[in-house]
Parts: sequence; structure tokens; C-alpha cells
Amino acid sequence: MGRSHIRSRRNSDPTGYGFSLEELPSPLDPAVLFGDAARTMPLEIEIGSGKGTFLVAEGEARPDTLFLGIERARRYWLYAADRLRRRERGNSRILRGDAVEALAALPEAVASGLHIYFPDPWPKRRHARRRLLLNPEFLAGIERALAPGGLLRVVTDAADYFDAIGESLSDRDRLRGVPYEPPASARPGELAGSNFERKYRIEGRPIHAFAARRTAPDRASGAPEQIRDAVR
Ligand SMILES: C[S@@+](CC[C@H](N)C(=O)[O-])C[C@H]1O[C@@H](n2cnc3c(N)ncnc32)[C@H](O)[C@@H]1O
Repeated sequence: MGRSHIRSRRNSDPTGYGFSLEELPSPLDPAVLFGDAARTMPLEIEIGSGKGTFLVAEGEARPDTLFLGIERARRYWLYAADRLRRRERGNSRILRGDAVEALAALPEAVASGLHIYFPDPWPKRRHARRRLLLNPEFLAGIERALAPGGLLRVVTDAADYFDAIGESLSDRDRLRGVPYEPPASARPGELAGSNFERKYRIEGRPIHAFAARRTAPDRASGAPEQIRDAVR
């Protein structure tokens, strides 16, 4: 992801837009990040924001919604936070930390939407926690964070990983597959509009996407077939 370019950004300043999970109180009230807007505006979360392309564009396209990115890698977090600050994206913030820990710190049913675009499918350092979407603890965190009716979107280029996600979702009873619609900021022909999608489309890689909706507490249903039916 252009590391030399990232390292050269010596003057990056995250002030007001980038926060570190370990320095914040837990449980984490979104008002700490967004002020009073957190009491009245819907919140959507992006996990693994990378350079923040989606956070910037979706925040601009939908100014009536708050967007919170979670990014583990400091250099990308810093790059994205600086970008949000320079663009004065008042409705977007980015947290530095692990997604599992961040979701656990946030209140239950905090999010009306959850975006996961091009998660690292098979991290080099083998550690189950880092395999986003294949880990039951992480899936439980997603179900807990999403409000009933909230929408999960996942886009990836890795076909085997995508199949494995379908398997792991088959055990969940609180997510129901729905037809995939791209987010507002995606350009024509795009499924997510993230940095990695643009890079991989130039390389001609196939791209896979699905969406699932958090069921209401009394309407738990979720079959793997439904998730797979939603695949594009
Ligand atoms: C392949 S990049 C994709 C970036 C962006 N979503 C895009 O599509 O351009 C995956 C990102 O997810 C982050 N990531 C992976 N596992 C994570 C975790 N457990 N918590 C937070 N961020 C994570 C990585 O640091 C990396 O920046």
C-alpha cells in the first residue's frame, strides 16, 4: 500500500480526527469522538480503513451520517486521520486499534451500518484474531455492534476467503443475506469504491461482495444459502 509514500508524510496531524483506542475510556461513548452529534445522527463503522478513501468519500456523500473507521496499522491510521482533517470531514473519525477490541468497547447496537472492504484474508503472522470474519469472536462483535435492521457489507478479491466467510456465517443466526447494493460514494461499476478495489480492478482481479442485515432480536434467522444468494 505505498509504504514509502506513507513514511514520507512527516507532517501528518491526526488532531481532532484520529484517536487511539488505548487512550480512550472503555466503554467508549461515541460522543467522545463526535460530540453531541453522536446523540442524534446515525453511525456507521468501517473496519480496516487503510488510507481512508471510503471514509472521506462516503462522509462527503452522506453528511447526515457519522462514519467511524477502525484501523490497526499506525501508519495508515495516521495517513487517514490527516486526510480527514485536511478535508474537514466533520462527520468522520478514525480509531487506531484492533477491530475486535474496538467493537467490544463501543455500546451494543451502536451502528446502523458496518463496512468491511478488502480485509487482509490470510495474515502472514498466523493469529486467529487477525482473520477478520472467520473468527467467532469477531462475528459476535459485529452482531452486537449492529442495530436491528443494520446492514453489513463485505467486499473482497479473495475467492477462497469469501467461501470461508460464507461457511463461518452459516453458524450465525442474527445475520440474514440481502441483495448487495454499493455504498453511495462508489463510482459506476464499483462495489465499494475503496483504494484496494480501484487497485485490484486495474489488475483485472474478480471482486466478490455480499450484504447481510442484522435481524431483529425476535426474528433470528440466517442461512448460509441466503448469504450466498446475495453474492455478486
Ligand atoms: C487490504 S487493506 C484494505 C484497506 C481499505 N479497506 C481498502 O479497501 O482500500 C486491509 C486493512 O485492514 C486493516 N486491518 C486488518 N485487520 C484489522 C483488525 N483486526 N483491526 C483493524 N484493522 C485491521 C489493515 O491494517 C489494513 O489497513
